[in-house]
Amino acid sequence: MTLEAWMRQAGLARIDALVLLRELAGIGHATLLAHPEISLDAAALGPLDTAATRLRAGEPLAYVLGWREFYGLRFAVSPAVLVPRPETELLVDFALARTPHDGYATVLDLGTGSGAIAVAVAHARPQAEVWAVDSSADALRVAAANAQALLPRPRPGGPLLLLAGDWFAALPAAAPRFDLILGNPPYVAAGDPHLVALAHEPQLALVGRASADGLADIRRIVTMAPAHLAAGGWLALEHGHDQAAAVQALLRSAGLVAVQTRPDLAGIARLTLGQAPARARIRPNSGSSAPMT
Ligand SMILES: C[S@@+](CC[C@H](N)C(=O)[O-])C[C@H]1O[C@@H](n2cnc3c(N)ncnc32)[C@H](O)[C@@H]1O
Repeated sequence: MTLEAWMRQAGLARIDALVLLRELAGIGHATLLAHPEISLDAAALGPLDTAATRLRAGEPLAYVLGWREFYGLRFAVSPAVLVPRPETELLVDFALARTPHDGYATVLDLGTGSGAIAVAVAHARPQAEVWAVDSSADALRVAAANAQALLPRPRPGGPLLLLAGDWFAALPAAAPRFDLILGNPPYVAAGDPHLVALAHEPQLALVGRASADGLADIRRIVTMAPAHLAAGGWLALEHGHDQAAAVQALLRSAGLVAVQTRPDLAGIARLTLGQAPARARIRPNSGSSAPMT
């Protein structure tokens, strides 16, 4: 079968077909344009047709290829992890802006999945001590593989520590207080119609503890975060397009200050931040915005 014929019969968006040709058969766009008559042999056709069938069935391109680029790094992904999204790069931007290039900082990534956030931060800030938690053992295996493939060994600064468990309960008693606690936790409401289009991704990553407003996991994280933040440390959480006001209220009621929301590149309120008061101990889930001193 010629390249031109395969493009016609693949039944894919042109951009997806071009990516498959490039990634699975090593055939670039220029070759397709200059030599559409080139024949694809059986060794090339098999993987291309299998991939096209998976894409037509609605599987994300990242699962079909086995990778997705995030923050300029190629992360391995599998159906055990959420496909890292471009808007999540905001969390990494925030973390890097708050972490000195050559200085020490403690960073915690809650719900690390593929390890996208934690590995991107550790890659850009080798002196930082980065911890990452997930309750899915399968996801942690993917994160560990990405850490091994993408981070220099041995890291000159603190290691990237991967821990299994339920949010902060995964941390050992000796864990430090963190300068930055980052998270892209599950925030899709149970029964949200968007879940149909996301059926190939892990429901634990999308919905977590099912709740009508999608905020069950964010509530639990915000309640516990003050006990794990260093004085002046920041909690930064990604959330859904209509959740900013609710997340801001949660952060304020946990005693965090300088609470603010940042938009993603599409202008959608996406990332809400709050800071532990400097040189003050705050009461976890106090229900008051006044810090305890
Ligand atoms: C939305 S995904 C985010 C994955 C990754 N950080 C990213 O941004 O691409 C949420 C992650 O939280 C994990 N998770 C869900 N409930 C959890 C819990 N109770 N404790 C720890 N991790 C949890 C899921 O397994 C999933 O990997």
